[in-house]
Amino acid sequence: MEQLKGLILSGGKGTRLQPITFTSAKQLVPVANRPVLFYGIDAMASAGIKEIGIIIAPETGDEIREMVGSGEQFGVNVTFIEQDQPAGLAHAVLTAEEFLGTDPFVMYLGDNLLQGGISDLVEAFRSSSPDALILLTPVSDPENYGVAELDGDRVISLQEKPPEPKTNLALVGVYMFTAGIHDAARAIEPSARGELEITDAIQYLVDEGKRVEPHVVQGWWKDTGRLEDMLEANRLVLDTVERRLDGELIDSTCEGRVIVEAGAILERSTVRGPAVIGAGARLIDAYVGPYSAIGERCVVERAEVENSILLEGSSVTDLNARVESSLLGRDVTIARSDGQPSAYRFLVGDRSDIGVV
Ligand code: G1P
Repeated sequence: MEQLKGLILSGGKGTRLQPITFTSAKQLVPVANRPVLFYGIDAMASAGIKEIGIIIAPETGDEIREMVGSGEQFGVNVTFIEQDQPAGLAHAVLTAEEFLGTDPFVMYLGDNLLQGGISDLVEAFRSSSPDALILLTPVSDPENYGVAELDGDRVISLQEKPPEPKTNLALVGVYMFTAGIHDAARAIEPSARGELEITDAIQYLVDEGKRVEPHVVQGWWKDTGRLEDMLEANRLVLDTVERRLDGELIDSTCEGRVIVEAGAILERSTVRGPAVIGAGARLIDAYVGPYSAIGERCVVERAEVENSILLEGSSVTDLNARVESSLLGRDVTIARSDGQPSAYRFLVGDRSDIGVV
């Protein structure tokens, strides 16, 4: 097989993660303090893929360019490809046609996380040389995904978000294709949601008698499009971290698998792992519980945080109740104010979601 390229999709609007995605790309929301997109790049790099195209949207592209850079930090070459409108995954493939040429490629949705990487799958793709290889996993809500119907090892049908799914096998956001996918993407019509669906393009391959090889993934898989998924992805990745305390601990304890980055300071605080505390963060008289990712330069003072993600620069101070199952954007401030009248005071963006006690 010729050289295998990588295509990572990092456009899209991220509507399900608003308001975070009003100011930042969904693929840059951190999981265990690393942008979710980086795990996809890592997975490709580990599978020996050197040339990676990243599809970006006009609105969030600059931010992604800046974070990823040339790809050197991952040991790969990155080419950015702008998709002028979010017209679907198959449209993204066509947008990347010049970059991809006639090479086979792995396509990876930039908000997906796959345990165990893709090296074995790339190996399977290389050795059995199908026209396409798709990944599937059983889910409880298949109507929210592309859904496959199989007969043994043969794909019979693929449907995008069918109201009445025929099976519970969802299409995972990692695909392997040969160049035939370009013609398939050109042959299909936009779906009801107005997008050129990659699911329909793969169905076209099936209809044309091409060989589409299904693989059921063994480890966990997460599409981090929604808050609950984001928190779960965070838990799954934090479950794999190893204890490393590089920051400064003053009268503080860290129990279990905790990472405290250099430059973080803990004073009279307790962190119960798995958890990660970013560089420059400060915990003062604080408790940070399991499955928390505290971003760079965050402050938690006389407050408790558990099972939450705090993006860089946020602070939580003097709260009476624990912050739980929450996602705070960048530079968010939550603090008790003792002035009169005794009232909640908010400066909150569109589509925020706040629960008070
Ligand atoms: C996309 C695909 C869908 C797939 C899913 C995986 O959905 O269209 O077939 O199952 O990714 O994450 P979207 O995220 O665009 O709703």
